[in-house]
Amino acid sequence: MLIRVGKGKLSKFEEMKTFDNVFQPDFEEVFTKDFKYKSHWASRYFKNNHPIILELGCGKGEYTIGLAERFPQVNFIGIDIKGERIWTGAKKAYLEKIPNVAFIRTRIEFINSFFGQDEVDEIWLTFPDPQLKKQRNKKRLTTARFLTLYRKFLKDNGIIHLKTDSPILFEYTLELARLNQLTIEHETNDLYGDENPELVYGIKTFYEKQFIVEGFKIHYLKFRLPREKDILEPAKGEE
Ligand SMILES: C[S@@+](CC[C@H](N)C(=O)[O-])C[C@H]1O[C@@H](n2cnc3c(N)ncnc32)[C@H](O)[C@@H]1O
Repeated sequence: MLIRVGKGKLSKFEEMKTFDNVFQPDFEEVFTKDFKYKSHWASRYFKNNHPIILELGCGKGEYTIGLAERFPQVNFIGIDIKGERIWTGAKKAYLEKIPNVAFIRTRIEFINSFFGQDEVDEIWLTFPDPQLKKQRNKKRLTTARFLTLYRKFLKDNGIIHLKTDSPILFEYTLELARLNQLTIEHETNDLYGDENPELVYGIKTFYEKQFIVEGFKIHYLKFRLPREKDILEPAKGEE
């Protein structure tokens, strides 16, 4: 089957191969074995011993870049399956020589091949697809299944940040956090109405700006993920 790819996309893919801050491993490289920097991102790639924070489903990487500029003593890695989106953040970091940024083009489902136990301090989930209906269990990034996956590399009691325009995703994740007695550090269903935007470092993502223009409220949840117990899934609701 012929797959049509726009010219812009192709040239971005080609250009991205020249960036030393982007990793695009083949399926075989991560499906059956561990990625070369697993457990060693700080020492071998960033060449420091700083903490690591991930942005999952990073799109153009606004948090990866924005936080890296604010916190030069922390390493940030953005992960997304869409190369033409990653290109925007990767190009900026590459041109501006921002040293504490990397991007990985892969499916989040394979993330365990990239990071070892206790390697990550925090995870940002920035406007993940809410994955309604049948997709929920397989693809929603805050299900018990995904949180259990994150625990394999997140430090004990590490922090998860969720920003979303979706009340369904927000309420679902809040319910999951309450059910599992996770420590909720912050919750708001109207970030820009109720709170000081500095809480989220004043950074707005590409999708977020569109949602705000369309009149959606932005929800934000920050919670800790301990390791000691199994994570339970909330009873299935209508979504
Ligand atoms: C709605 S967009 C949000 C992008 C960006 N965070 C923003 O706020 O502008 C969701 C992003 O998650 C990525 N994504 C969704 N599921 C993914 C998965 N399983 N693995 C990797 N990326 C995924 C998509 O490619 C897309 O870029």
